[in-house]
Amino acid sequence: MRPADAAGGAARSADPPRVVLGVAGGIAAYKACELLRRLTESGHRVRVIPTKSALRFVGAATFEALSGQPVHTGVFSDVPEVAHVRLGQQAELVVVAPATADLLARAAHGRADDLLTATLLTARCPVLLVPAMHTEMWLHPATQDNVALLRSRGIVVMEPASGRLTGVDTGPGRLPEPVEIAELARLLLERADALPHDLAGRRVVVSAGGTREPLDPVRFLGNRSSGRQGYALARVAAQRGAEVTLVSAHTADLVPPAGVRMVHVGTAEQLREAMLVEAKHADVVAMAAAVADFRPAALVDHKIKKTAGPPSLTLAMNPDILAELVGLRPAGQLVVGFAAETGDETGDVLFHGRAKLAHKGCDFLVVNAVGEGLAFEQPDNAGWLLSSDGGETELPSGSKALLASRVWDAVASRLT
Ligand code: CTP
Repeated sequence: MRPADAAGGAARSADPPRVVLGVAGGIAAYKACELLRRLTESGHRVRVIPTKSALRFVGAATFEALSGQPVHTGVFSDVPEVAHVRLGQQAELVVVAPATADLLARAAHGRADDLLTATLLTARCPVLLVPAMHTEMWLHPATQDNVALLRSRGIVVMEPASGRLTGVDTGPGRLPEPVEIAELARLLLERADALPHDLAGRRVVVSAGGTREPLDPVRFLGNRSSGRQGYALARVAAQRGAEVTLVSAHTADLVPPAGVRMVHVGTAEQLREAMLVEAKHADVVAMAAAVADFRPAALVDHKIKKTAGPPSLTLAMNPDILAELVGLRPAGQLVVGFAAETGDETGDVLFHGRAKLAHKGCDFLVVNAVGEGLAFEQPDNAGWLLSSDGGETELPSGSKALLASRVWDAVASRLT
């Protein structure tokens, strides 16, 4: 079950990955249908293994129709196939969503009393458990000890989201949104190794999205940033154990990352104020936001009418927040900057990236090539990670979560 053993486990092939989706018996089992749809639509072959109690919430026919595969819960179905051994051995990823308190306990203690827990024992690939339960059950020392034990074995146990639970109660314990689980599942398939819990106890502040600089009550200067890269950074840091604050300017319609504290801002000045407060006690600050370099010099308090013809715009410079954060950083804090670059007659993307790292004085700079079809509004990203100690690592094309995880790999090793 250790992700570190993945290389010796399931054979990699050109076939779409074999994903086992385990579903335990909680009300959030209905959300597993949406996750299953996302996994199959993105080309994965998925075998669903519900527990007996999961089938009290969602019928086997639903899972069979959505996956195109038979559904069994016990080890005595399909005996000649030895399914309880074969499914785990062949899997390239096992995801259990929702994972109830009981499922976590059985997984932590190596029980094999149904097909799902037996599969967890035979799997040699990355395993992602996605808890969903009432807050009291999640926070109970028994559950927390089981989670710690599972994590110590390299299992990725997702931080639950906070919010409305069944009934009137709210708090941590909610199943993260299927889109978020699917993003982490893809990340584990791309990394094909563990996602370590190595940021536990660290405070991380990430900025994301594009600032909007108002011109009048209805118009603004903005940019094309979707915020996806910054949200992926925050999401992956939280799942690696960090206490994360995400300062978010305008983004596409994105799901707030589970377990992350959100601060919403509009303009560059508001972003600056929020970052200066949040960064004071942070171990790591990552500036992924696309900050408008200029703003209209004056805010007109009424809608500018076209009758007078096009207005002439006077712009004022916005502060360079990253440079200011670098100047104010407390001892030991690491600062990560981002640079969206294009090549020109004076040099290529990397040349401009190196110059920006030196000029901004941050510890790491992620350099992306931008232009038609690159980086902005795309699910995938690629680039280079430049480090103030002279290190240059290529970040091959992959999901924005993969790029985020490579950045955290480098940050975590510098922190220690
Ligand atoms: N940044 C910032 N404040 C600004 C502009 C940018 O904090 N006013 C940060 C961004 O969040 C990013 C880094 O600086 O982490 C580089 O942003 P980029 O737009 O590539 O560079 P600029 O400093 O704006 O320089 P230029 O546009 O001239 O390349």
